[in-house]
Amino acid sequence: MAGTGNFSMNIICIGAGYVGGPTMAMIAAKCPQYKVTVVDINADRIAAWNSDKLPIYEPGLDEVVKSARGRNLFFSTNITDAINEAKVIFVSVNTPTKTFGEGAGKGADLQYWEKTARDIIKASNSDKIIVEKSTLPVRTAHAMERILNANDKGIHFEVLSNPEFLAEGTAIEDLKKPDRVLIGSQLTEKGLAARQVLVDIYANWVPKENILTSNVWSAELSKLVANAFLAQRISSINSISQLCECTEANVSEVAKAIGMDSRIGPRFLNASVGFGGSCFKKDILNLVYICESYGLHDVARYWESVVAMNEFQKKRFVKNMIRVMFNTIAGKRIALFGFAFKADTGDTRESPAIDVTMQLAAEHANVVITDPQALDNAAKDLQGCVDCKKYVTFEKDPYEAAKGAHAVAIMTEWSEYKALDYERIYKSMEKPAFIFDGRNILDHQRLYEIGFNVYPLGKECWKHF
Ligand code: UDX
Ligand code: UDX
Repeated sequence: MAGTGNFSMNIICIGAGYVGGPTMAMIAAKCPQYKVTVVDINADRIAAWNSDKLPIYEPGLDEVVKSARGRNLFFSTNITDAINEAKVIFVSVNTPTKTFGEGAGKGADLQYWEKTARDIIKASNSDKIIVEKSTLPVRTAHAMERILNANDKGIHFEVLSNPEFLAEGTAIEDLKKPDRVLIGSQLTEKGLAARQVLVDIYANWVPKENILTSNVWSAELSKLVANAFLAQRISSINSISQLCECTEANVSEVAKAIGMDSRIGPRFLNASVGFGGSCFKKDILNLVYICESYGLHDVARYWESVVAMNEFQKKRFVKNMIRVMFNTIAGKRIALFGFAFKADTGDTRESPAIDVTMQLAAEHANVVITDPQALDNAAKDLQGCVDCKKYVTFEKDPYEAAKGAHAVAIMTEWSEYKALDYERIYKSMEKPAFIFDGRNILDHQRLYEIGFNVYPLGKECWKHF
């Protein structure tokens, strides 16, 4: 392993994904005194982290990685050596929704976490601090501590919960200036000492008042609850978007009016075709499952409805397209602008565009997908969809995608889509030409003046007939 050098501490992270990679790069960039190593079982991913083309697209990430890589930031597949050398081990392996057995479809699949815990025991020869970075069900630390401390080497493992709140697309800014860093520990002497080690790492760049400490269960649960609350705001405004369409109210005006109430606040009130991303749905369903397992069925139903509203919003978007386009879209070319689950990322996990594409393909529409960063992932996501094989194509250039199309639908709020030449696009399309703005990012009046029939979300439509 490269350069043990004169570092004051060895920190590692197991799992070089969207969370582990950027988080460790930031720690390394801000703390040259530590040696930071990120390990993963996926050799291709590690090779990409060591190359000029990083495995994930994230604004500002290249610079942060380049500033520290080879100095005190290392990416490796040598998990055993890394564990052995480390004092602090962050674990950021994936914890997907279980697809089988008890809790299938809701509970978290902890097999990778437990396997990682066993790898840690095997490779360790000294006491270690284990930091949960992955989102986990509340009380996982308890199980982990039992597994880890059942070792017969006399080694003590202290488990902390330090959930990551970064959002994709803004990961670097979020890591540089987090609203808060949350660190949960046991309240024992050893737990508090381990907590202090982690506080000291973050205190290298995060103001002390933004570093929040709590008991370990509160930290674990806070991550699930934070995501559930954020998603709940989107489902709430999305539910109102439909009511706006029926009543000539305008959802953006409603969002602005309610958001100016300082008790509500302005963020996460943009109506959309639906929320996506690797966390929201998975974490809410996990919360639902945990509530059910404690017999809290009413609480479970309450949070489950946030996911149900999101599914409804995606379905209603397509239903509306079909209705507006004279109740048939079979054989019609429909260009989807954007496939990523949000702007500034190539990530497509749980993207609403996946469901929308599948529904459109099931109606035998000829779907053309364009996206500046996510086309490779889009192709992978649709691999298992039989209709998509027949009816879906991919096109890098949005102008080409729109050529000959009956409709354009905005799926992702990429800023380049606001700056396109819509007169050119209009001229190249079949008439009547439709635009469905699933993110409310375009100038609807101007599009109408060009000749489009425009269907925003939660607002009156602009149509020529
Ligand atoms: C992960 C978790 O999925 C999520 O619950 C949590 O909130 C943050 O961390 P993310 O970084 O987006 O999210 O996951 P992903 O990009 O899938 O990365 C996980 C990495 O762990 C993968 O590169 C995978 O190869 C690696 N891994 C998985 C291991 O190194 N060992 C394993 O046993 C399993
Ligand atoms: C989320 C949380 O924000 C972050 O704190 C946590 O660590 C991981 O999960 P992320 O999924 O990366 O982050 O992106 P986020 O910005 O929260 O967006 C999630 C989805 O909600 C996207 O599909 C986005 O387009 C959508 N969204 C967001 C809306 O539809 N309307 C909004 O007003 C805001």
